[in-house]
Amino acid sequence: MKDAFGFPQSVLVLGGTSEIALATVRRLVARRTRTVWLAGRPSPALDEAAGGLRALGAEVRVVGFDALDPGSHEEGLGKVFAEGDIDLVLMAFGVLGDQAHDEREPLKAVRVAQTNYTGAVSAGLVTARALQEQGHGSLVVLSSVAGERARRANFIYGSSKAGLDAFAQGLGDALYGTGVHVMVVRPGFVRSRMTAGLEEAPFATTPEAVAAAVELGLRRRSETVWVPGALRVVMSAVRHLPRAAFRRLPV
Ligand SMILES: NC(=O)c1ccc[n+]([C@@H]2O[C@H](COP(=O)([O-])OP(=O)(O)OC[C@H]3O[C@@H](n4cnc5c(N)ncnc54)[C@H](OP(=O)(O)O)[C@@H]3O)[C@@H](O)[C@H]2O)c1
Repeated sequence: MKDAFGFPQSVLVLGGTSEIALATVRRLVARRTRTVWLAGRPSPALDEAAGGLRALGAEVRVVGFDALDPGSHEEGLGKVFAEGDIDLVLMAFGVLGDQAHDEREPLKAVRVAQTNYTGAVSAGLVTARALQEQGHGSLVVLSSVAGERARRANFIYGSSKAGLDAFAQGLGDALYGTGVHVMVVRPGFVRSRMTAGLEEAPFATTPEAVAAAVELGLRRRSETVWVPGALRVVMSAVRHLPRAAFRRLPV
């Protein structure tokens, strides 16, 4: 159960090697979190992530999870909840893809959509139901400003995040009043493995800054969190730009 300050004691990360997720969990472990489940595709990086958190004093368990295999989600994630209550599910898996390349290889583009959207629909519904059965908990979904308005240079990823974002908002409304809280997090460009080698966008931020914003959002039970916060206003303007003007922006 969350403690009196609203900090989760037990956390399930979907996408257990995500740099943003690990920065968030490190922050939570430094507060009150004791039990961490890292769900992800088996790899040395996943084991290393678990080891790093154990060194901070957390009890860490690793469980297989593949966003591209939704048929396995109910059973795999069900086993986690069967072991005890989860206060926070952090949905952090995702792939950026390679837009120029993926436009020419539709099956690659489909993989981006299936990972970021279809995988999240499945894992989101499975974990939301488990949280609802407990009667408490938060589901934090890492969306992106890229979903707010799809750009020419990044519309495959952007459209997958738009779908994810809309899904998570609807799920939050469906769960309103049940004791389960859904929080949509929309970071801008984050300096992580996902963006390594890419030219930085304005308002670039860090996994640690996203982690701090997630912690604050959890404490406030926010429904939407922008990182950095200024992007809320910026994206509101961008969203309303006429198509012809938006097309000419160097983004
Ligand atoms: N970095 C940014 O600029 C940025 C901005 C806004 C939003 N986001 C979102 O934030 C989330 C975390 O990103 P990050 O920056 O922390 O990137 P990251 O370090 O590259 O993490 C991505 C995670 O997704 C996992 N993943 C990919 N495909 C998967 C699959 N089929 N099944 C299970 N897990 C899978 C990866 O696991 P493996 O180790 O198995 O590959 C990894 O754990 C993503 O949803 C991303 O879209 C990122």
